[in-house]
Amino acid sequence: MDLIQIKGGNFLEGEINISGSKNASLPMVIASLLTKDKVIIRNIPNLSDVSTLLELIETLGSEFELKNENNSSYKLIIQTKKIKNNLASYNLVRKMRASFWVLAPLILRYGEAKVSLPGGCAIGIRPINFYLSMLEKMGALITIKDGYVQASVRKNLKPINYKLNFPSVGVTHFFLMMSSLIEGESILRNAAMEPEVISLAKMLNKMGAHITGYGTNKIIVKGCSYLKGLEIISPPDRIEAGTYALALAATGGKLKLNSISIKEIETLRYLLENTDVNIKSHKNSIELIKKNRIIQPTDIETKPYPGFPTDLQAQFMALMTYSKGRSRIKETIFENRFMHVQELVRLGAKIELQSDTAIIDGVRKLYGAPLMATDLRASASLIIAALRAEGTSTIRRVYHLDRGFDKIEEKLKSCGAAIERKRDKNE
Ligand code: EPU
Repeated sequence: MDLIQIKGGNFLEGEINISGSKNASLPMVIASLLTKDKVIIRNIPNLSDVSTLLELIETLGSEFELKNENNSSYKLIIQTKKIKNNLASYNLVRKMRASFWVLAPLILRYGEAKVSLPGGCAIGIRPINFYLSMLEKMGALITIKDGYVQASVRKNLKPINYKLNFPSVGVTHFFLMMSSLIEGESILRNAAMEPEVISLAKMLNKMGAHITGYGTNKIIVKGCSYLKGLEIISPPDRIEAGTYALALAATGGKLKLNSISIKEIETLRYLLENTDVNIKSHKNSIELIKKNRIIQPTDIETKPYPGFPTDLQAQFMALMTYSKGRSRIKETIFENRFMHVQELVRLGAKIELQSDTAIIDGVRKLYGAPLMATDLRASASLIIAALRAEGTSTIRRVYHLDRGFDKIEEKLKSCGAAIERKRDKNE
């Protein structure tokens, strides 16, 4: 296994190409299974979550080719003429929660599906109750046995009028895929409004679906009987861009983020400006300049879009550990997304946890230490903290990072960070 070693203290200065979005690409790849035709998705990021998903859908009957288009993106040509297998095994689904969404194309095209329960994960329990109640309302028969969800369709599936208790991103994706191919009008209320939902809805519409209201909390879908192939581009990764912007805010310096526009990280804009990051917005790039190293303490609360994204909470906390006062960070989406706290504390951060809120008393300096990555975004938080810390930090279990950040160490190194990936001799 690899580890990442960082000698802190350098300013960041240079340009970073932002990759395609992980969380937009994954549902788009799964949606390609809704048609027999060829689907081309460009700007697919080079991530282990993408490879895991491709490995899974190959077992279901998909054939694909990945072509390297430039250093940071791939063109995926994929076709699923026939679903040959309706089993999504534990071995593959356990690695990544999004693979559970293959349930939709399996039910729609095979009539029966057996998909492993995704299981708990480091950031919370993450139940699947909304998926199951939605499916039942659509008329599917569901049993849970031996750790698998088994769903079958006896008669035609029915359109539904469904209100989510919480605007779940995954369940909104699932609703879009299912209802696009269920005859009649389906309505989802309290739907997620995340940009990734918009990307999926636009893709399905290009495939022939009739979806309106996406991007609002009420989505209406008029089902059709057939979806066709298409060519589409996955959007830039707003979480990757936000992570680099927060790294720059911590270290100071000057960064240009390419292939992304400021509207993708609008929720961060005010927070960055509040801590003296000067932002110049161009059509397809963002320039960020931070001349001092003073960080303003700031309170945030994670919220569904357009609120502050939970996927940037850990990175924002890393920044606040250096602030000149007290900040409060409340996590309202996942009940256990504070695994990074104990590692930040190892660097010398002062953080106290009070149920869903972290209270951070900023310190002038953190000091390098051996660290353990616990989940994807937590790993990025440790990198940000270590980039400014005095001395050297080593971060182990970086496979978490590879799930969602393409070549993070190369991108940061090209901007002056003293960061190296090495083989971990102790593993
Ligand atoms: N929830 C339920 N029941 C359900 C489904 C969800 O209670 O049946 C709860 C969850 O437990 C959680 C809340 O609803 O408390 C929101 O979860 P959501 O379903 O929105 O999350 P998700 O679809 O599983 C996606 C992203 C996550 C991101 C969340 C929230 C992908 C592949 N994953 O997960 O991304 O944090 O939305 O924005 O799109 C990451 O990239 O690091 C990551 C975890």
